[in-house]
Amino acid sequence: IVPIVIAMDGPSGSGKSSASKGVARALGLRYLDTGAMYRAMTWWMLREGVPVEDPAAVAARAMDPVLDSGTDPAAPTITVDGADVSGPIRTREVTNAVSAVSSVPAVRTRLVQLQREIIGIGGIVVEGRDIGTVVAPDAQVKVYLTASEEVRARRRAGDLAADPGASVTVTRAEQARRDRIDSTRAASPLTKAADAQEIDSTELGLDEVIEAVVRLVKERE
Ligand code: C5P
Repeated sequence: IVPIVIAMDGPSGSGKSSASKGVARALGLRYLDTGAMYRAMTWWMLREGVPVEDPAAVAARAMDPVLDSGTDPAAPTITVDGADVSGPIRTREVTNAVSAVSSVPAVRTRLVQLQREIIGIGGIVVEGRDIGTVVAPDAQVKVYLTASEEVRARRRAGDLAADPGASVTVTRAEQARRDRIDSTRAASPLTKAADAQEIDSTELGLDEVIEAVVRLVKERE
């Protein structure tokens, strides 16, 4: 029996992170948040003063930070040069710069390789934008999680509740911009894999989404 890989892709605010962690816990699997890796790379670029809108400048430094991701769904960690950056990678500054950094092919090549090393033989839920299409095209279960734009903006604004600039209106505009860049970039854009199962979480609670994914896993056994 081959250890399973569950690919969870979709736009921001679709509920991927909560659902992916929940599925991993329900099934006793590891968990990898690839968005956190792109965020960590972005956080490091900003700290180093790299002009993130300049693809050549970003590409030139793409190999420099040492990144590592823990895979415990109960306590996922992300470190840069050994320091935990779980908090700093969630700021608006990083969120609004990450799409520029993640569209640079040298960044993607490096992080996809790292992601494949962590995935190893499997036993893992992996969330991102290109997992079912590029990182793990052989994943046994592929989910494309969506939700209405309105609901996604509300969830994101909730995540950023501590940030006074993050009203639903502003969050919605920033998120639409990020999704547009993520979906239209040349290097592995966000797109639903041909063999992915779409789950629309607009009207679903977290437990229902987790159940739906677990059902897909059980169906193929
Ligand atoms: O999932 P999260 O919103 O944390 O992802 C942050 C950003 O990282 C995305 O907006 C996207 O630009 C990038 N990303 C990506 N490929 C992935 C995961 C995330 O390009 N597999």
